[in-house]
Amino acid sequence: MDDVITVKDLYKIYRIGENRVRALDGVSFTVHRGEFCAIVGASGSGKSTLLNMMAGLEKPTKGEIIIGKDHIEKKSENQLVRFRRRNVGFIFQSFNLLPTLNALENVALPLTFQGMSKKRRLQKAEQMLKLVGLSTHMRHKPTQMSGGQQQRVGIARALVAGPKIIFADEPTGNLDSVTSAEVMGLIKKIIREHNQTLVMVTHDDHLASFADRIFRIRDGKIISITEPGKDAAAENADETIDENAGRMADETIDENAGRMADGTVDENAGRMADRSIDENAGRMADRSIDEIADAAMEEIASAGSDNSKEIRETESNVSDTEDGNDEGPKEDETANEKTDKK
Ligand SMILES: Nc1ncnc2c1ncn2[C@@H]1O[C@H](COP(=O)(O)OP(=O)(O)OP(=O)(O)O)[C@@H](O)[C@H]1O
Ligand SMILES: [Mg+2]
Repeated sequence: MDDVITVKDLYKIYRIGENRVRALDGVSFTVHRGEFCAIVGASGSGKSTLLNMMAGLEKPTKGEIIIGKDHIEKKSENQLVRFRRRNVGFIFQSFNLLPTLNALENVALPLTFQGMSKKRRLQKAEQMLKLVGLSTHMRHKPTQMSGGQQQRVGIARALVAGPKIIFADEPTGNLDSVTSAEVMGLIKKIIREHNQTLVMVTHDDHLASFADRIFRIRDGKIISITEPGKDAAAENADETIDENAGRMADETIDENAGRMADGTVDENAGRMADRSIDENAGRMADRSIDEIADAAMEEIASAGSDNSKEIRETESNVSDTEDGNDEGPKEDETANEKTDKK
């Protein structure tokens, strides 16, 4: 199988005063193309740190991250911006939708950087919103939508540009468990159809069970890698034989009745599933604008550094927060500001 992400001996050490935190303590693994991997661990175990390194949002203290043929840890900020724009989609726990834009405009945003006409961008965004079951909410602004609906807008936005890789950090962290499972199913369906690779961080074992492989992380180390599908298949093999035998016996007794019953169950289940996607969207407390804006900044910053006046105007409405206080191994990070003296 084709490896799309390789992480080699990755370390991230944060220094706060006297203290040193080994957020990542020698992590190595590969992710295959089209695979869905879940990174699972307790709070503070290093999940987000790992994801942020893979996305090139933070620099490792030591180690390598190779995506395709590109060494992420060696790229400059500008190269990373271009790389992410071309290859990566993000889904965040707090949605990070721009509050002044409606659902359609939020979803169309990543397409701005693909040199597409506005009409075409809105068409594609519309298709994506339909796919996530939001055809009736295209013109709603984030505050006019439920948590589950906003989350689905976030998913549509992450997927609209057809990224090869999707990074998701607790993508359903603000939703109730029923809605979470639905949203998870939806994400999985879409990425499968497009052979996209998904790396998802969660602390929820049930959500992780949707994945092809589960990487468990503790104190910055990977402690196990399991394949829930395979393990479950092995466990269920005996049951399935018993179940089928039982079903066949029933049918022999009353074949037609058996079939009708199955049909009814399937039909009802299908109807319920359809309805629940629309109706069951989770309620959540309003996220503060700052929190939404915060991570949107990163995405828009990474997307907006060269063109689009429109985006920059939007961006300037959003409070500018700076989180570059990570004390990495290098101290040359002030070299960004060049003055043009002639
Ligand atoms: N910018 C930072 N500066 C200093 N320490 C940090 C920083 N970011 C994370 N850490 C520390 O690194 C460790 C791993 O943090 P990380 O955010 O990766 O955890 P997590 O597994 O995502 O947790 P959660 O489930 O709570 O989101 C923690 O001990 C955390 O305090
Ligand atoms: Mg985290």
